[in-house]
Amino acid sequence: MSLNVPIGEINILLYQEIEDDLIGTVLWDSSIVLSRFLLANSEFVRGLSVIELGCGIGLASIAALKAGARHVSLTDQLPPSIDLARRNLTANLSTGEATEVDDVSHSTDEGTTYSFHAFSWGEDPKHLHPPFQVVLCSDLVYRDDTHAALVAALGAITDRNTVILLAQEERHPPSEQKFFALFDQQFTREPLDTALHLGGLSEPDHMFLWRCRRRDQGH
Ligand SMILES: C[S@@+](CC[C@H](N)C(=O)[O-])C[C@H]1O[C@@H](n2cnc3c(N)ncnc32)[C@H](O)[C@@H]1O
Repeated sequence: MSLNVPIGEINILLYQEIEDDLIGTVLWDSSIVLSRFLLANSEFVRGLSVIELGCGIGLASIAALKAGARHVSLTDQLPPSIDLARRNLTANLSTGEATEVDDVSHSTDEGTTYSFHAFSWGEDPKHLHPPFQVVLCSDLVYRDDTHAALVAALGAITDRNTVILLAQEERHPPSEQKFFALFDQQFTREPLDTALHLGGLSEPDHMFLWRCRRRDQGH
């Protein structure tokens, strides 16, 4: 099944698959907000190395590439998500716009590149070649039993200069509070204005986007 999603001036064509037990093969509203924000504020990613955790079907990464990221590494634990993300990047980025490579170490100063990686939070991220300059997180906070692993993954792929853009729809406040109790020990959070990016969403009042950095951040 495909859908067209308006992101700024662009219509993004996305393939998704609705399966009862898979949440990573459909589009989530947080990624619409994050994508619109990136296209309206391209300085957050322009010329930088970016990683997306739990990329699902890949919308935020497409937006980061269209906003001028130098390289985007798309990661997810779910092979069907990676397959759909690859299909969606191919459908929305011409070969002149961006090229698939094996990993960030194969990116060059001349062209825009992206790569796909199986990665479960908590695993050794060595194959991803961290640290990255920007981390994209869209709707990753929904299971209490993965909170610690997600915070650990963020610690392992960032350095003192990394910016994390974390978009989240508030759905289960007690669970989200538990996550942020852990997250806030290691990272700072500053809310970003999403007012211009909420059109057409079903729960606009429950959408949040934060700019986060490590507490040992550089200056
Ligand atoms: C709610 S979906 C969000 C997908 C996408 N970011 C979006 O906003 O449309 C959560 C994503 O996180 C991935 N995920 C969940 N737990 C994970 C884990 N422990 N390690 C890696 N990815 C995980 C899922 O496979 C899924 O793609």
